[in-house]
Amino acid sequence: MSALGNGADRHRRPLVIGISGASGVVYGVRLLESLRELQIETHLVMTKAGEMTAAYEHPLPPRAIRALSSVHHPVSDIAAPIASGSFRTMGMIVAPCSMRTLAEIASGATSNLLTRAADVCLKERRRLVLLVRETPLHAGHLRAMLAVTEMGGIIVPPVPAFYAKPASLEEMVDYTVGRVLDLFELDTGQVQRWNGMRERQALGENGKESAPWT
Ligand SMILES: Cc1cc2nc3c(=O)[nH]c(=O)nc-3n(C[C@H](O)[C@H](O)[C@H](O)COP(=O)(O)O)c2cc1C
Repeated sequence: MSALGNGADRHRRPLVIGISGASGVVYGVRLLESLRELQIETHLVMTKAGEMTAAYEHPLPPRAIRALSSVHHPVSDIAAPIASGSFRTMGMIVAPCSMRTLAEIASGATSNLLTRAADVCLKERRRLVLLVRETPLHAGHLRAMLAVTEMGGIIVPPVPAFYAKPASLEEMVDYTVGRVLDLFELDTGQVQRWNGMRERQALGENGKESAPWT
């Protein structure tokens, strides 16, 4: 089918994952693990600050995080395939996305492979999802998010959904990762989908035993 160039293979193309230096490296790691389970090829690029933050806040060393991807590209390698629109992908997720990386993507003045790959997604009208993480936000941050949204990107701050009643940090992260992959029509099976208040109440206290959430 792909030989026809009709986009029928769109949902099985590689997905680019960017990890920048904001807090929340665990989101990028869980994305890589989930995509591996879904047998989706991943191309990973981590900024220097992303590697520093990972070393500080995640139990896996950067080397082990890189090993979760199908292909890893150094952030300085602006000749990597993902720097060109002719290399076809499903799109890109930056998780977590720092305010510095957000600002570069919003301006189009890209200085490394991560932001160049994001810019490629925007110019090719492919899905670009940014898990921006900072708080509180000033007007410049908000303007940059608006600019990316106006260019077709999707801003997804990793804000927990308490109605999903997560029992652990892992469940909270997995819910967000599942909702992010929903945006690419990929189902991790880890999103308890809302079926309305009545069904939820019928389930009792923890709401996780039966059908409406599965
Ligand atoms: C432990 C740690 C946590 C950080 N958390 C954030 C954050 O949540 N959001 C953010 O925008 N920057 C955060 N920073 C600062 C960025 O790493 C810094 O601005 C860096 O220049 C971003 O570069 P990059 O966009 O190339 O990854 C953090 C830095 C460290 C060391």
